[in-house]
Amino acid sequence: MLTIGLLGCGNIANIIVKNHVGVDIVALYDQMPERAEDLGRLCNARIFRDIDEFLSADFDIVVEAASVAAAQAHAAAVLEHGKDLVVMSVGAFAEKPFRDAVNDLARSLGRKIYIPSGAIFGLDNLKIGQVSGIHRLLLRTTKNPRSLNMECDERTLLFSGAANECIKHYPKNTNVSVALELAAGRTVDVELWADPAVDRNVHEIVIEGDFGDATITVRNLPSPDNPATSYLAALSIVTLLKNLDEPMRIGT
Ligand SMILES: NC(=O)c1ccc[n+]([C@@H]2O[C@H](COP(=O)([O-])OP(=O)(O)OC[C@H]3O[C@@H](n4cnc5c(N)ncnc54)[C@H](O)[C@@H]3O)[C@@H](O)[C@H]2O)c1
Repeated sequence: MLTIGLLGCGNIANIIVKNHVGVDIVALYDQMPERAEDLGRLCNARIFRDIDEFLSADFDIVVEAASVAAAQAHAAAVLEHGKDLVVMSVGAFAEKPFRDAVNDLARSLGRKIYIPSGAIFGLDNLKIGQVSGIHRLLLRTTKNPRSLNMECDERTLLFSGAANECIKHYPKNTNVSVALELAAGRTVDVELWADPAVDRNVHEIVIEGDFGDATITVRNLPSPDNPATSYLAALSIVTLLKNLDEPMRIGT
């Protein structure tokens, strides 16, 4: 069975620990040690207080569920320690030079980087953008202001522009925009709305290309313990881990 270490022991890591199948969780690290200790009570994993010791431990895959900054800081070291990497905070790869450098390093070391579908549907087939024209790609995300740690009385447009700009301002809320960009191989127009009338995290994706057109609307329930995180995102990484070792690949 594949063995994993969790980098980040917050909400998503808790859901992974409670639901994982097909992988063995053997190592935990969090910059807040008490979070790793709390999670350690739910599984038999070893708790590390030092990132180098964590990365040097004997397991196959680092699962990052921490932050954009953590993914950027540790991605190269993970690969250099001979481990594959699953990145939840995909916003880390918004800038092409960094993305290319990490990709090149993984290729040269024979390692893999996995990016879960996260809080949306449709990421799989959007990859056709790498071989066929996609002329329009829009992500309109609407969240309750609570999820964005702010207050407002009416529907308010917070951001309109490119994904790699949006993630700089909202690194905890717009990872999806960067995932779309990486899948499609083109830029994404992003609108981020705060709306006190919604109680779900809503992602509307509009795609127009040589294939025709598609509109996908996902109305996500927030995770019980963290309104910023859609439950679907956690389920997606659990599913990715479950399938990592399967010989049959489904979807593009
Ligand atoms: N791709 C997607 O669709 C998607 C969806 C939801 C969440 N996310 C991202 O996944 C990540 C985890 O989400 P969550 O809900 O579990 O967050 P969370 O805040 O509940 O937990 C994150 C944990 O990581 C730890 N952490 C942060 N920076 C760290 C660092 N540099 N080193 C070690 N530990 C660190 C924190 O102390 C915390 O315990 C976030 O970056 C979030 O934005 C992505």
